[in-house]
Amino acid sequence: MEVFKQITEVQQKAQQVKRDGKSIGIVPTMGYLHEGHLKLIQEAKNENDFVILSIFVNPLQFGENEDLDAYPRDEERDLQRAEEHGVDLVFFPTEQTMYPHPLSMEISVIRRADVLCGRSRPGHFEGVVTVLTKLFNICLPTNAYFGMKDAQQVAVVDALIKDFNFPVKLKPIATVRETDGLAKSSRNVNLTEVERKESPAIFEALQYGKKLYDSGECNVSNIIEKTRQFLEERTHGKIDYIELLSYPELENVKVIDRQVILAIAINYKRARLIDNIVFSEA
Ligand code: PAJ
Repeated sequence: MEVFKQITEVQQKAQQVKRDGKSIGIVPTMGYLHEGHLKLIQEAKNENDFVILSIFVNPLQFGENEDLDAYPRDEERDLQRAEEHGVDLVFFPTEQTMYPHPLSMEISVIRRADVLCGRSRPGHFEGVVTVLTKLFNICLPTNAYFGMKDAQQVAVVDALIKDFNFPVKLKPIATVRETDGLAKSSRNVNLTEVERKESPAIFEALQYGKKLYDSGECNVSNIIEKTRQFLEERTHGKIDYIELLSYPELENVKVIDRQVILAIAINYKRARLIDNIVFSEA
């Protein structure tokens, strides 16, 4: 496994791999790898000749009062895990390498970002698409792997690839969960013991909401309100949002007549957790 810190090293290697007629799978991450990330790596291994893992805590996608400084890091363990899982190249740039001077341009995300996490985190998706544009141009991926845990991110990346004609195929991967249903996340280590005990209620609430629809409840606001009640009875976390929208367009719907997403975000003391389920009309 090669570990590169410089952009030109990675770009030259990627060009070489492409010249040899091989496919490249990219798994962009912010590190502190857990089984969710490893699942993306495994899928990338299955479907590509060459796998690039990028590890970069992207300051551009963090708001001023967010957890950039508290974001967990463990370089040594990440490299070990990457090696064990057959990654071919790790791109591990510094902030100075990725952003040597203030950017002269920015990408505005004008759809799919004014709801869910985009509403609570202004500028977040602009930061995500900016770093991904750079990573796609540096790593030249054939396929790009993203987790459905961040379903809004998948929807935004889908639009980025289509709008700007990146020759990259988007590969969404199902959420990996703890045995009690909590979606795996680097932020779970910041939960208190009590919060961790309560947190499986998030996924239970999502399943409860979907069950309401399956058993005949068609009214979207009723589903949202009952899901909220279900969740409030089971956790002290502060609900940031519960929304039900079309997917991947992320537009409001009154009734469920196409694929939709039911999504939740909860603020605990030192961690903001998100989860969702995507389902289609019965
Ligand atoms: P990060 O939070 O490190 O996540 C990297 C990738 O792992 C994302 O595609 C995310 O959806 C996926 N992932 C996280 N938890 C998962 C789980 N439990 N199951 C399946 N996949 C999971 O998302 C980012 O980094 C950044 O925004 C990034 C895309 C790297 C841009 O900076």
